[in-house]
Amino acid sequence: MPQFAMADRLAALPPYLFAEIDRVKNEVKARGVDIISLGIGDPDMPTPDFIIEALHAGAKKAENHQYPSYVGLRSFRAAVSKWYQGRFGVDLDPDNEVVSLIGSKEGIAHFPLAYVNPGDLVLVCTPNYPVYNVATGFAGGVTKFLPLTDANDFLPDLDAVSDAEWAKAKMIFTNFPNNPTSACAPKSFYEKLVKKCRETNTILVADAAYTEMYYNEAAKPISVFEIPGAKDVAIEFHSLSKTYNMTGWRIGMAVGNEGLVKGLGKIKENVDSGIFQAVQEAGIAALEQGDPYAEKFRAVYKERRDALAAGLKKLGIEFRLPEATFYFWCKVPKGYDSKGFVTKVLQETGVVLTPGNGFGSPEAGEGYFRIAMTVGKDKLEEALARLAKI
Ligand code: MLT
Repeated sequence: MPQFAMADRLAALPPYLFAEIDRVKNEVKARGVDIISLGIGDPDMPTPDFIIEALHAGAKKAENHQYPSYVGLRSFRAAVSKWYQGRFGVDLDPDNEVVSLIGSKEGIAHFPLAYVNPGDLVLVCTPNYPVYNVATGFAGGVTKFLPLTDANDFLPDLDAVSDAEWAKAKMIFTNFPNNPTSACAPKSFYEKLVKKCRETNTILVADAAYTEMYYNEAAKPISVFEIPGAKDVAIEFHSLSKTYNMTGWRIGMAVGNEGLVKGLGKIKENVDSGIFQAVQEAGIAALEQGDPYAEKFRAVYKERRDALAAGLKKLGIEFRLPEATFYFWCKVPKGYDSKGFVTKVLQETGVVLTPGNGFGSPEAGEGYFRIAMTVGKDKLEEALARLAKI
């Protein structure tokens, strides 16, 4: 049998973080260990019924059974635009400044292909959702990581990038509220970033998947488009996954600069055929009527957050109290590295955690682990009790 070598760009990649966690988790589970999975940011509460009913109604319509529109139903794009106006006070033209995505991961993964030429420099704030640097690599770009550290309050030091590097940079990936650190960016940070990107002609990619998971009403996360001039340089990725517990539905959107949205749309026309229209109709229901549900989910996560914070404190584990997202970014206890610690915890307790060094730049996340609050409070407390044993 012939052996086919993977393309170099794929062969060079480590296994995808969350697929690898699944693999190891399943191995341990097969040994009969009772698993508590805090490894992936996959909401455990069900999608609200009214969204499921909208899907059902949409699935019954014959016109929804054919190929969908490449860029998304006009009515879905209009609902996105209306939601952005209501939530952020941002105007978006549904015809030119919104494109539907098969989940924001898909859009993020494809976007660099539209703008990055081989050898182009791409700035990635790190630790990060691995797709930013993977997608950059697929496009042939070169990643420069901008570390988010305790010392800089988990915001990138934009002044540490030299003028020559800014001049070379094609795009910068940011993600606030941040996965995995849970850091939030103040408006002043976005103002500085937008100014820099405008001055240096750099595409600003804002991953905004977690803006609705916040616990401090006074410091609600913002959209980059609340900053004047952002539309000249930015595209923002958003998703219904985390807000309405819809990870399995695969529906998201990219919005902003008309040219950038079109560039992504052109890639997508060539590689996919859009989202099942019934799912888009369910998405419209979520965007139009979902706010009270998002509020309820926030309350549940806040209760979990407070219970987890109290338990981790008792164990002497250092962490950032999340003001947003459902992630805790914790320091591994002395004597371990990230992988060694999460491996020991999984093998000895069945609790699945995520090693910090799996998020983009291994150096930036080394010494940390991430906990996702994706089980009920009782299970979280059980996980804490198991951790206490080691
Ligand atoms: C995570 O755990 O970081 C996310 O769930 C991954 C994702 O959103 O694809």
